Amino acid sequence: MEDLKWDEDRLYQLVQEKLGDYLFLVVSNREPYIHSMSGKEIICNRPVSGLTEALDPVMRASKGTWVAYGSGDADRTVVDSSNRVVVPLEKPEYTLRRVWLTDDEVAGFYLGFSNEGLWPLCHVAFVSPTYRETDWDTYKRVNRIFAEAVLQEVAGRKAMVLVQDYHFALLSRLIKEQRPDLTVGQFWHIPWPSHEIFRTCPWQEEILDGLLGNDLLGFHTQSYCHNLLATVEHTLKANVDHNRSTLTYRGKTTLVQPFPISVDFDRLSQEAGNEAVEREMESLRHEFDLAGKYVGVGMDRMDYTKGILERLQALDKFFENFPDYRGKVVFIQAGMPSRTQIDSYQKSNERIDNLASSINSKYGNESWKPLVMMTRQLTLVTLVALRRLANFCVVSSVHDGMNLVAKEYVSSRIDVDGVLILSQFAGAVDEMPDALLINPYAITEFANQIKKAVEMPEMERRRRMKTMRETVSNHNIYWWGASIVSNLISIARV
Ligand code: F6P
Repeated sequence: MEDLKWDEDRLYQLVQEKLGDYLFLVVSNREPYIHSMSGKEIICNRPVSGLTEALDPVMRASKGTWVAYGSGDADRTVVDSSNRVVVPLEKPEYTLRRVWLTDDEVAGFYLGFSNEGLWPLCHVAFVSPTYRETDWDTYKRVNRIFAEAVLQEVAGRKAMVLVQDYHFALLSRLIKEQRPDLTVGQFWHIPWPSHEIFRTCPWQEEILDGLLGNDLLGFHTQSYCHNLLATVEHTLKANVDHNRSTLTYRGKTTLVQPFPISVDFDRLSQEAGNEAVEREMESLRHEFDLAGKYVGVGMDRMDYTKGILERLQALDKFFENFPDYRGKVVFIQAGMPSRTQIDSYQKSNERIDNLASSINSKYGNESWKPLVMMTRQLTLVTLVALRRLANFCVVSSVHDGMNLVAKEYVSSRIDVDGVLILSQFAGAVDEMPDALLINPYAITEFANQIKKAVEMPEMERRRRMKTMRETVSNHNIYWWGASIVSNLISIARV
């Protein structure tokens, strides 16, 4: 897998040569293209989602079918009688099969068990999981609805199914019960916690049983794989082979492997050089009076796992401990609203807003505002321009499966400059030891690392950035896709 660099063409060839007459099917909750009404017109948008960003190129190469929840208000208008639409509309590459859910199902399945139960359970962010029986029942029902849709799409064919994420812990088992001949893999995009934490879940056995319906189970890092093996060992009467990283349960074996997800490095690098980006950089410099200042950025979904509050606390400490930098550093926080109906998200956002205002009133003056909060949906051009403008980018997750912002920042730095400050609790840290590492809870040390980023000599910045760019360029999204698809193909051919 390491020799030649992977790109879309090479992944396409792999899929064409090896997939043969197998249908390639991806399942996720979030759909890759959302159709909505804008006045009387239907517009098509891409969601803000690392998952869909990462899988779209893999799907374009495989020309298969993607099964996902249709969340857009014009989604039903554009599908055919089998709820399918070919995407992207301007250059059709693969089929999107939409699944419809009621508001109650979304509340219990997505907001409820997935995001108030499993999300805080798997992220050690000290937000307690909420385990509602009714949510769990809905979660089970929705997993069955998706299983039916997958089986319909496969019909009589041979297929490889790649299930995405924690929304579908039970899906693979349900598919395999009907079609044991299918090859089914699942990628879990969030961390897997220790056994001590996971066992708080009242339905731990059912969840593990569902996951062991997979032939292949992927996580971002080796340590999440170890946690899963240990959890199964403590919970089920399964045969755990730590050397081969396999679990044998109810007569079938599941291979557990790390696949660190990534980004389309070449596309991001290319986009970073666009004229529109240059113009946007100029306009941001002007709007926020950035000329001659050090610029830091943070860009996240507004989620309590991202450590945005801790980041602001560290900035507060930075301006307090190093007053010489007052007036010289501007930090721009871009934040895409997310899961705003959930109480823990509302509370976290409120605390962030309050702290941001207090920092600006404590240190700011008429000619300088230390913090710029851009907590809204931003265009791709603005996001790329922010990455290019930033002398340093802060990723301070208190826990994170991978964190693609770190890899996006590095990919956009075509000038091979800029400093990445990275949490040791983000999966990305395994591949990026050249970032400035932080413990987001250690606020004074975090503030010192911000100072170090601002003061880092150019030679050192370039050396570190060069190494990180090489890593992401080689371990790009096509490499990730090829690793998973190759594993699935080997399993299917046994
Ligand atoms: O990090 C886990 C994850 O599900 C990603 O895969 C996804 O991009 C992100 O959370 C956003 O999730 P949602 O679909 O809930 O907006």
